[in-house]
Order: sequence, then C-alpha cells, then structure tokens
Amino acid sequence: MIFTGWRQRLPHLWGGGIFRKGLKQKNQSSCLLWRCCHWKTNGRPLDPEMRTFIEKNTEVVHSGNLTPEISLRLLTPRCRFWHEKGALWPYGDPYWAIYWPGGQALSRYFLDNPEVVRMKKILDVGSGCGATAIAAVMSGALQVVASDIDPVAAAAMVLNCELNNMDPLPVVTKNLIGTEMDAWDLIVLGDMFYSEELADSLHQWLKKCTQVHGTKVLIGDPGRPYLVTHQIQKQLHKVSEYALPQITQQENNGSTSTIVWHYRP
Ligand SMILES: C[S@@+](CC[C@H](N)C(=O)[O-])C[C@H]1O[C@@H](n2cnc3c(N)ncnc32)[C@H](O)[C@@H]1O
Repeated sequence: MIFTGWRQRLPHLWGGGIFRKGLKQKNQSSCLLWRCCHWKTNGRPLDPEMRTFIEKNTEVVHSGNLTPEISLRLLTPRCRFWHEKGALWPYGDPYWAIYWPGGQALSRYFLDNPEVVRMKKILDVGSGCGATAIAAVMSGALQVVASDIDPVAAAAMVLNCELNNMDPLPVVTKNLIGTEMDAWDLIVLGDMFYSEELADSLHQWLKKCTQVHGTKVLIGDPGRPYLVTHQIQKQLHKVSEYALPQITQQENNGSTSTIVWHYRP
C-alpha cells in the first residue's frame, strides 16, 4: 500500500484496519529495534543512532496544543516525513510523534490540578511522546512509569524528558494490558480507545485494577467511536473538558474538544 505522507495518513486511521496492522508490526519487532529498553529505559544511555534519527526527523514544538509548558519533539510540516511516503519510514507507525487530544486533556488537567497527582504512584499506559507522564512529574507525582509497546516511543521520551530538564522516565515496552498489576494510585490513558479489541481488553483489565487495588483510572479522549459506543461509557464520569487549539482540531478531523473521564465501575 502506498501512502503519500504521515500527516495525510494518520487522520484516517481511526477506522481501525491500518492502525491495527501497524501496531502488530511494532509489537513483533519491539525487542529487535531497541534492545536496551525491553523493560525500563531508566539510567541506560540512548542509542546514538536512534537519537540522531529522532532529532533529524522531528521538530521541537512549544505551542499548538493545550500544554505550552511542555516542549516536545513532534512531526510537523517542516519534517521530511510529513510529506514523505510512509513506506520509507524505517520503524513502526510513529504515533509517538503526535501529541493526541486525549493526552493533551490529561496533561492540562494535571498541570491545573496538581493535587490529583501529588505524591501519587502513576502508570501512564500508551504514553506515546510522554507528555502526560511529564506533566505528572512536573505536578509533583511521587513515581511515574510510562508504558508504550513501541520502543521508538521509549527513545523519543528520553529526548522529551531532556527537553523539559528532567531525568529520563522509566519506560516499560512490554504489553501490560491483561497482566497482574502493582498497586498504582492512578492509571492514566490518553487516546487509547482506537479499536474494539483494545477497548474490550482495556475495559476488563482496568476493572480488575480498580477492584483489586482500588486504583483510580483517568481516561483522556476527544470522543473516539470505540470509547463513546463501548459499554465502558456507562461507567465514565466527566471530570473536565477542554476546547482544542485550532492546530489540534485540524489534525484530528475537526474534533473541537477533549475530555478527562474518571472510570468508576
Ligand atoms: C494514539 S497514541 C496516544 C499517545 C499518548 N497517550 C497521547 O495521548 O499523546 C497510542 C499509543 O499507545 C501505544 N500502545 C498501543 N498499544 C499499547 C499497549 N498494549 N501498551 C502500551 N502502549 C500501547 C502506541 O504505541 C501509541 O504510542
């Protein structure tokens, strides 16, 4: 399949098919791509080639999203792969190179309400660029662990932590969904409900996490179909809603707002 560039391709992904294929590819190759981050990146040096690749193919962004306090390396119109054929991209789909509306909502909420995360142990599932985990650290969390099955996301998070003058976050690249969890105070998920299969497995797993450990779960989402039509919706309580900046609206098929939900089964 020929794609004309990531930015033309990504807005169409929410239908499911191509997105699931991309994630499968990432899963299979994760250990090969970046051996040093299979469990945690904490304290380990970033592979210089990976650093150079990310620096060359992203731009540092300070605006156009809900959290100008956080600097991030993202894919922008000035990057080669904004226009380049997606097939030339040497890794799995670069979802980490976009700051998604769901993550933006959670990050904004933490920065405005630091008491929600202060002194808490937090797991960010599907961290992508790491902005929500970074916001939790900035807001005084006791411990923050990021989780993303894409090892390139884990590498990008090292660079994004550096940009925000913080130590690298511990990043888990193993798939944690469905596994036994530690007693986290808070599990957060930004824009993670993008397929029926994932929504089902997240629902079951999050229910268990809340029932076994009393873990609080917050979900950031701009109204993706697999969240709003899923039975989990009945157990979601709106915490906060934000109007999306123009640039984020354009990048997300015109979604105008994004919501933080509290999952209470
Ligand atoms: C749409 S992006 C959201 C990124 C970020 N939370 C945000 O809002 O900007 C979804 C991310 O989830 C990651 N992902 C997908 N399945 C996962 C899983 N089972 N465990 C952890 N991360 C996963 C993808 O690699 C991708 O980076």
